[in-house]
Amino acid sequence: MGAIIEVENLVKKFNGLTAVDSISFSVEEGEIFSLLGPNGAGKTTTINILTTLLKPDGGKAYINGVDVVKDPNQIRHMIGVTFQELVLDSNLTVWETLDFHGRLYNIPKTERHKRIKELLSVIGLEDKAKKLTKTLSGGMKRKLEIVRGLMNNPRVLFLDEPSLGLDPQSRITIWDEIRKINRSGVTIFMTTHYMDEADRLSNRIAIMNRGKIVAIDNSENLKSQLGKDLILLKVAPEIKAKTVEILNTSGLLKEIKETSTGLILSSIGKGSAAIPKLIKKLDEQAITVESIELKRPTLDDVFLFYTGREIKEGNDWMRNLTIMRRTGRLIR
Ligand SMILES: Nc1ncnc2c1ncn2[C@@H]1O[C@H](COP(=O)(O)OP(=O)(O)OP(=O)(O)O)[C@@H](O)[C@H]1O
Ligand SMILES: [Mg+2]
Repeated sequence: MGAIIEVENLVKKFNGLTAVDSISFSVEEGEIFSLLGPNGAGKTTTINILTTLLKPDGGKAYINGVDVVKDPNQIRHMIGVTFQELVLDSNLTVWETLDFHGRLYNIPKTERHKRIKELLSVIGLEDKAKKLTKTLSGGMKRKLEIVRGLMNNPRVLFLDEPSLGLDPQSRITIWDEIRKINRSGVTIFMTTHYMDEADRLSNRIAIMNRGKIVAIDNSENLKSQLGKDLILLKVAPEIKAKTVEILNTSGLLKEIKETSTGLILSSIGKGSAAIPKLIKKLDEQAITVESIELKRPTLDDVFLFYTGREIKEGNDWMRNLTIMRRTGRLIR
C-alpha cells in the first residue's frame, strides 16, 4: 500500500507566529497515524489545512494524490473530520444528526438510512436514535461525532483529540471504536496530547513541538532510539552546566540532554554499570546529586528528550476550558 497523505514543507503563519513550521511526512493507507504534541504545537492547524479549512502559507499537501489547496471539493468527499471541540447540535436527535450530515453529502435517502443504522450499531447507540443529543453522556456524544465523520464513507478519518476530556472508561471505548473503524479499511489521522493514546493506538507517531516535527516512527523505535537504558539525573540548577561538562568527559554517555527538570543521559553500555561511575566522577568534583534514576524509555521520555520539556507543561487553561465545555461543567 502506498501513501494516502503526503505533506511537504507545509507552513502556516498567524501574524508573526509560525504555527506550522515546514513539516513533511506521509501516512500510509490503512495506518493509524498520530500527531502527538503539547498545547499550541500546531496539531489542529495541521488538521485544518489537511481538511481544507485553512489555506497554508507554503508547502504542499495531498490526499490520495489530490492537492488540498487546488481541489478542496474532491478532498471533502474523501475525508471525514471530528473536531477538537464538540459541535453537535443539541436540539437534533441522534438520528437527525447523522441524517443531516448525510444530506450535506447528497447521499440518497435509502442509502442514508441504511448507513445511519450501520453506524449506530457500530457505536451501540441504536436505542438512542430518537433521543436529543443533549441527553447523551460525554462519551456517547464523542462516539456520535466520530461516526458522523463516517457518513460519506471516507478513505481517511481525521480525529482531532478524540478522547479529550473523557473519563478513562470512555476513552477505552473510544479507542476500541477507532480500531474498529480502522479495521474496516479507513486510514486514521489523529492528534493527541495523551502519550498513552498515541502509544496504544497508533502504528506511527509524529512528535510535534512548536510547529515542527521532531521525531517520527513507531512507538517501539522512538523509544529504542534513545538507547536501552535512560538515566535521569537531578542536580541544583546553578550547577547544571558544570555537571554537563563533567559528564561529557566521562566517556560513558551517548548523549546528554538538558530538560526543564534535570538531565537525561543515554548511556553507551548498561545504565546500571554507568551509574556508580558517574556518581563517583561527580562526587570527585564536589557535585551533589539530588536524585538519579535508571529506567526503560517511555514515550514521555522520548518527548522530553527531543523537546526538553514535558508534554504536560505549559498553560493548560484553554484545554481545561474545552474539557469543561465538553463535560458541561461550564455554561457558555
Ligand atoms: N486562527 C488563529 N489565529 C491566530 N493564531 C492561531 C490561530 N489558530 C491557532 N493559532 C496559534 O497557532 C499555534 C498552534 O495552534 P494549534 O491550535 O494548531 O495547536 P494544537 O497543537 O492543536 O494545540 P492544542 O493541543 O491546545 O489543541 C498556537 O500558538 C495558536 O495560538
Ligand atoms: Mg488542537
